[in-house]
Amino acid sequence: MTKGATTVRHRLPDLSAPSARAVRGLAAALALAVLSLGACAPAGEAGGGAGSATVSFPDGWEYPPSEALTTSASGGMVVTTDSLASAAGREMLRAGGNAVDAAIAVQFALAVVHPAAGNIGGGGFMVVRTGSDSTASLDFREEAPGAATGDMYLDEQGEATDASWTGPRASGVPGAVSGMRKAHEKYGSLPWERLLQPAIRLAEGIVMDEEMHDNIDGETDRLTQFPASAAKWLPADGEPVAVGDTFRQPDMARTLRAIAETGGEAFYSGWIADSLVAQMERSGGIITREDMAAYEAVWREPIEAEYRGYRLVSMPPPSSGGVTIAEILNITESVGLDTLGYHSADHVHVAVEAMRRAYGDRNYYLADPDFEEMPLEMLTSQEYADSLAASIRMDTVSPSQRFNKVPTESTETTHFSVVDSAGNAVAITTTVNGYFGSAVTVRGAGFVMNNEMNDFAVNPGEPNAFGLVQGEVNAIEPGKRMLSSMSPTIVVNPEGRTELVTGTPGGATIITTVYQMVSNHVDYGMEVGTAVNAPRFHHQNLPNEVEYERSGLADSVAAELESRGHEMVEEDGYSGDVESIYIAPDGTLVGAADPRRGGSALGIDFGGGG
Ligand code: DON
Repeated sequence: MTKGATTVRHRLPDLSAPSARAVRGLAAALALAVLSLGACAPAGEAGGGAGSATVSFPDGWEYPPSEALTTSASGGMVVTTDSLASAAGREMLRAGGNAVDAAIAVQFALAVVHPAAGNIGGGGFMVVRTGSDSTASLDFREEAPGAATGDMYLDEQGEATDASWTGPRASGVPGAVSGMRKAHEKYGSLPWERLLQPAIRLAEGIVMDEEMHDNIDGETDRLTQFPASAAKWLPADGEPVAVGDTFRQPDMARTLRAIAETGGEAFYSGWIADSLVAQMERSGGIITREDMAAYEAVWREPIEAEYRGYRLVSMPPPSSGGVTIAEILNITESVGLDTLGYHSADHVHVAVEAMRRAYGDRNYYLADPDFEEMPLEMLTSQEYADSLAASIRMDTVSPSQRFNKVPTESTETTHFSVVDSAGNAVAITTTVNGYFGSAVTVRGAGFVMNNEMNDFAVNPGEPNAFGLVQGEVNAIEPGKRMLSSMSPTIVVNPEGRTELVTGTPGGATIITTVYQMVSNHVDYGMEVGTAVNAPRFHHQNLPNEVEYERSGLADSVAAELESRGHEMVEEDGYSGDVESIYIAPDGTLVGAADPRRGGSALGIDFGGGG
């Protein structure tokens, strides 16, 4: 079957116009040479919006723009992966709370209704831009326990074991509760206890839906290894509660009530910490009471980057997201995507070459800023990007090893976006790493612990669970935060208005997915629902291959890319779960949930309706 002719129409570069940068002129000329060889469709009229190419997706693509999960409202918007979590956030907006209040309610609600990824036993990152243009980012990433060592996951032969993925030793000290507390101290307007009420209610009983059932079912082998996990998640003779039956989480409700009443103290130094440490001691984990008491979320300066007049506000290290997205954008800006048709071979080639270069840097340079010096200014500068762009050849691939500076050798997270009537915008990506994290449930407290330790370079130079080959800077040290790809991001338009709030799960693909959201919107002028639904591709330098979603590229484009030397890998399924909000010039909020995992955008209109 052909996956559809490329119906993308190109606006050819006007080589007579003076070009902003010499390298752009060079790349445009190269692109023109390829176009004129007949690799792509002929020139046509430009598309609308910020971009200049008409956009269409291949035949057989699963998520056409007409099936975008969008909703509009005037007074506030919450977009999450789960309708009950979105409703928890909307309840706070209706009660007069702001976007941060709503986001905190969502974080706790997700820990109950989407426990595969939503959490209090994990961590994440938050990016905020207020209606008055102040920006902030909060690092509530997990931290290596004090007894952690660089070789704690290596066996006698020096091979990595499974212990960084499953079991009590896979967990970092959880950061989510401290993060929510810090966010509330700085921005919250409703009382803290109020923000936990929806989550507590949900923990008292929800109807088991198919998605949660299947998520639990898919992890049965790991969950059965730990008695408290088996008792909570597989109570029906080793099976999850049946779809349609009520799923009650009394221990979790008690834990959430204690967090509501003590503001996090019970979690880090009270009975919940005791339960967690007891769980560790029973099963061979190393998190201590001292580790719990010492944990604190940290406010950090966001990464800000300019792209075609837009401003990106995203997460700094220990997330690699903001820096790497900025680097990819800068490299593509140097080349100039506005001359290339959407998902033409040229477009994918340039983006992939930019990804290859940026991931080479990511894996070598980036880590916890409290432990390592990093050349962030260089990595995010246009001059550096120009120098990398200059080595891109349009007719062939660059060798990944040239950009790999590391001596060589599943997935679950969730993102949500909230905007309120005052224009405050919040993007949070949060995770326990794999589905149900380490698979260990804290007995008596009812929550799952993360397996974030696998995000360290457990064995520098060898790939981790996401195939990322990372270097010594991200080696395990006590108290250090493991490098992340999570990239909650806010895009500010040339007039200074927040225009797009976005993010996604997806391990190493998070960065390229968020990059494509920004590019789809800025370069190709797509409406937010279309930008979310658009097919995605991914390259992370190593392994040296271009992954793309099922039927996501036309056969002719994949074949053309193969002929230039790319190894093209068509996935069996789909990648990411982008939850986004677009703010139109008249202030209308358009929420777009990702149909790939069936999210939910819920708005309120001025006056609290909707
Ligand atoms: O922080 C990170 O980069 C990973 N722990 C994220 C894991 C993830 O996105 C899995 N979900 N799809």
